[in-house]
Amino acid sequence: MHGDGLPEASRVQQELKELAKVAEGDLKDAGSREKIEATRVHFLGKKGLVSKILRQMGDLPAAERPSIGLVANEVRDRIEALIDEGIARLENAQRDLVLLESIDVTLPGRRQRMGAKHPLTQTIEKIQDVLKGLGFDLAFGPEIEHDFYNFEALNVPAHHPAREMQDTFYVDRDVMLRTHTSPVQIRGMLALKEPPMRIASVGRVYRRDQDVTHSPVFHQVEGLFVDDKVTFADLKGTLASFVSQVFSPTARIRLRPSYFPFTEPSAEVDMSCFACDGQGCRLCKNTGFIEILGAGMIDPEVFKAVNLDPEKVSGFAFGIGVERVAMLKYGISDIRLFYENDLRFLEQF
Ligand code: PHE
Repeated sequence: MHGDGLPEASRVQQELKELAKVAEGDLKDAGSREKIEATRVHFLGKKGLVSKILRQMGDLPAAERPSIGLVANEVRDRIEALIDEGIARLENAQRDLVLLESIDVTLPGRRQRMGAKHPLTQTIEKIQDVLKGLGFDLAFGPEIEHDFYNFEALNVPAHHPAREMQDTFYVDRDVMLRTHTSPVQIRGMLALKEPPMRIASVGRVYRRDQDVTHSPVFHQVEGLFVDDKVTFADLKGTLASFVSQVFSPTARIRLRPSYFPFTEPSAEVDMSCFACDGQGCRLCKNTGFIEILGAGMIDPEVFKAVNLDPEKVSGFAFGIGVERVAMLKYGISDIRLFYENDLRFLEQF
């Protein structure tokens, strides 16, 4: 019909595509719902541009109509998609505006509170640091332990009454939750083979025991020193230094005879009461001293169990309950407070 050299159908298709481009340009910067709606009517409305072109199809040969219809559908879909995009864009902008208005940037910020180490962790780290300073190497062992390491090698044979001293959680006949950190010393001596041996074992231990000062799970730290001429005086000197560093420079120690199957002689170690410095007060029940440790010279039977000759080597060991130290240090009367994770309690450390 028109003299542009294109067959009629291609010309109409071309026109439709042009329309899509124009619509795209219009919708890109449509700043309101009204503008978008107007654009829709302008292109897709009953009297819109696309409809107008489609109406002219009647003048075309029937054979060319389907190809034009195809393009017309494409263009209509394209414009509808652009309209949806435009509406979504407006809605997002609207929502951002609402959000911005509801954030009061003049309000003071929320404070991030600093966390702190658990009092038991603090106590363990303090004890570890002091023992490292005294020349001990840290060692760890399994919490599920074999009878040999937990009892047998520590001179507590089966049916020995000393097993009563440590209420044991058994897994089966020969396997248990370790009742103390001493099995780590057995493992350590077997591994090192030759003195000198300076081992500090740290960790969780388990006993069937529960009241305000006893928990079925608690922590011990234990020191062991083996060499060719270790004496009880070495033990006493080490403990005096240990206690003064962990508690206070003025803390003094006192040793009382005691019994452990794995040490001979054995001692309970008291320290001067830090509340009254030995004068006598309620905390120390007027004795001036507080019991804090078990210790002694390693029993010859223990050496034999780890293939060391008790005629050639000697050594000492001492064990301390971490919870007990922390309770004394911080004046805590109920051991369960350590495990409840109540922030009001923990925040005080
Ligand atoms: N293992 C002992 C206990 O748990 C403590 C201890 C360790 C005593 C080392 C003496 C020497 O009771």
